[in-house]
Amino acid sequence: MTLRNTILTTFVAVTTLLPGCQAQAPEAVVYSDPGTGITFDTWNVPSSSKAGGLTFGVSLPNNALKSDATDFIGYLRCTATEESAAKGWCGITLGGSMIDALLFVAYPDGDAVRTSLRFTSEYAMPGVYGGNATVKPISSTANSTGFSLIFHCQDCLHWSQGDTTGSASTSSGFLDLGYAQSVKAPTNPSCAADLKLARHDIQGTWTAMLDDHAASDSYDKWLGQAKDAVPDKCSA
Ligand code: HEM
Repeated sequence: MTLRNTILTTFVAVTTLLPGCQAQAPEAVVYSDPGTGITFDTWNVPSSSKAGGLTFGVSLPNNALKSDATDFIGYLRCTATEESAAKGWCGITLGGSMIDALLFVAYPDGDAVRTSLRFTSEYAMPGVYGGNATVKPISSTANSTGFSLIFHCQDCLHWSQGDTTGSASTSSGFLDLGYAQSVKAPTNPSCAADLKLARHDIQGTWTAMLDDHAASDSYDKWLGQAKDAVPDKCSA
């Protein structure tokens, strides 16, 4: 083998292996959920020494790769490294930054999984999102290894709070996303308005490439499985 070929072969081998070593490879992994039949494009955040990592996925309306969608069916699986971390929270920013983008937060509360939409213009605990968006659960699990949730997020791909507006463009073929995970349980978990979050132990952003599996003709049928969210329990 010539020197040139050796260098080329080494380059190809290294670049082929790289995606497996990267956190949050941009290419989607297709996941079909056996319980609901819903197909998602998913991206994986591997565990670190501080937190167990998470997998986030989206399923979009059938024309979303041609015309921007405003809603999606989401999949979130948050893994706990140990039982004491299983009550921690996980979050996704739908705009690639913690600030000035819609934040989706999920956490277990007993057997249930609760969610809270949040928004902030500074790097401090985000307040409750004041815009128009609705989350409805489709299915969830919570146990000592972490929690998972499939949910419909309506009006979550465009946001508006005060003078700040923004959106994600599904027709661009990718989403700018970010993740955050805390091993500490939120306080007041049963009342989203009084929720107190500990700062995340891990966070980051990634570009999530959408492939043909992200959008489906079955989207409207799958939405039929959405139910009302677990009601808040707030003390008066
Ligand atoms: C008590 C609550 C929170 C505090 C004090 C906080 C604080 C911060 C700070 C200081 C940074 C930037 C600097 C760094 O690299 O460490 C950051 C980054 C980040 N946070 Fe938060 N955060 C909170 C909640 C959240 C929530 C609820 C989410 C998502 C649902 C989130 C998502 C992110 C993401 C994705 C980044 C990296 C991207 C960026 O810098 O904008 N954070 N956070």
